[in-house]
Amino acid sequence: MARVTIDGKTIDVPEGTTILNAARMIGGEIVPPAMCYYSKLKTSGGYCRTCMVKVSKGSEKDPRPMPKLVASCRTTVMDGMVVQNITSPEVLEARAGVVEFLLINHPLDCPICDQAGECHLQDLGYENGKMNTRYEFKRREFEKIDIGDKIKLHVTRCILCYRCVQVAEQLCDGRVHGVLNRGDHAEISTYIQNAIDNEMSGNMIDVCPVGALTDRTFRFKSRVWFTKPVEAHRNCDKCSGKVRLWYKGEEVLRVTARKDKYGEVEDWICNSCRYDHKKTSDWVIDGASHVDKHSVISANHYENLLKLTQDTKNKLKQFEGKYVSRGEGALNPNNK
Ligand code: SF4
Ligand code: FES
Repeated sequence: MARVTIDGKTIDVPEGTTILNAARMIGGEIVPPAMCYYSKLKTSGGYCRTCMVKVSKGSEKDPRPMPKLVASCRTTVMDGMVVQNITSPEVLEARAGVVEFLLINHPLDCPICDQAGECHLQDLGYENGKMNTRYEFKRREFEKIDIGDKIKLHVTRCILCYRCVQVAEQLCDGRVHGVLNRGDHAEISTYIQNAIDNEMSGNMIDVCPVGALTDRTFRFKSRVWFTKPVEAHRNCDKCSGKVRLWYKGEEVLRVTARKDKYGEVEDWICNSCRYDHKKTSDWVIDGASHVDKHSVISANHYENLLKLTQDTKNKLKQFEGKYVSRGEGALNPNNK
């Protein structure tokens, strides 16, 4: 075991644990944001630098601080290590710089983007960004591309986190897309157009932290915060069959995988569950989804409303008792 202290909180973790995962074991606001790391995808992380932290003490044996900020998703803890995340002004300043970089080419089209409300870059910008950018040059622009009949790719919104490439490599039979070119010419390959005809390809939409890959069957149907997420399952021979249904009224507008509090998919789902089963009768409903993340989706979440209804019912019962015992007219303020 290795003992690590992150922002003053100490925990013992197994050898080989990364700083990011140690922080997740502690939980709360000290957990660094992660735009490219994904616990369910091997080799993810190391691309975006949003998870940077300061190692102010390397280890018990060698207490020297690390000379530069490090990517917490790629740096393993050492026994006695001391790490600063939100307690380090240097980290916060660097993270604001990363947000500025990520937003150089990313359009601010949130008002028309389907990812709005569940976009990790939106959250990151809100929590760590600055009001202005210093970038004055022409932004990169790309045409929108249809990847098969179910997925739309906006390369302009892509932040090159490589998660979709890892989904293609690790879940689909044979990867047919990737990142072409390097530096500011890097882009998700347009071979993707011919590509995504695979039973697990829809998972790319779920792992994309921004609105670069969106579900064509859901595009422009509703803002996500007007939909009601519900956990459901069915027997499926291709995947776990555990999904989240997003209702508007009686209609299921989309089906996604369930996500944990870090916005990561809990169990991958197949395209048949995602696209071909959009009737309530196709599913066994498990109950209201719990949306952990602080987001507009959880802000007005009806899970709270259900609780409120129960509370209100109890209060109404008490009130009814009083009302009946005091007789008709008890509500009239003139009847003291
Ligand atoms: S399309 Fe989305 S998931 Fe793929 S690299 Fe770009 S941002 Fe990441
Ligand atoms: S999450 Fe660590 S570098 Fe992207």
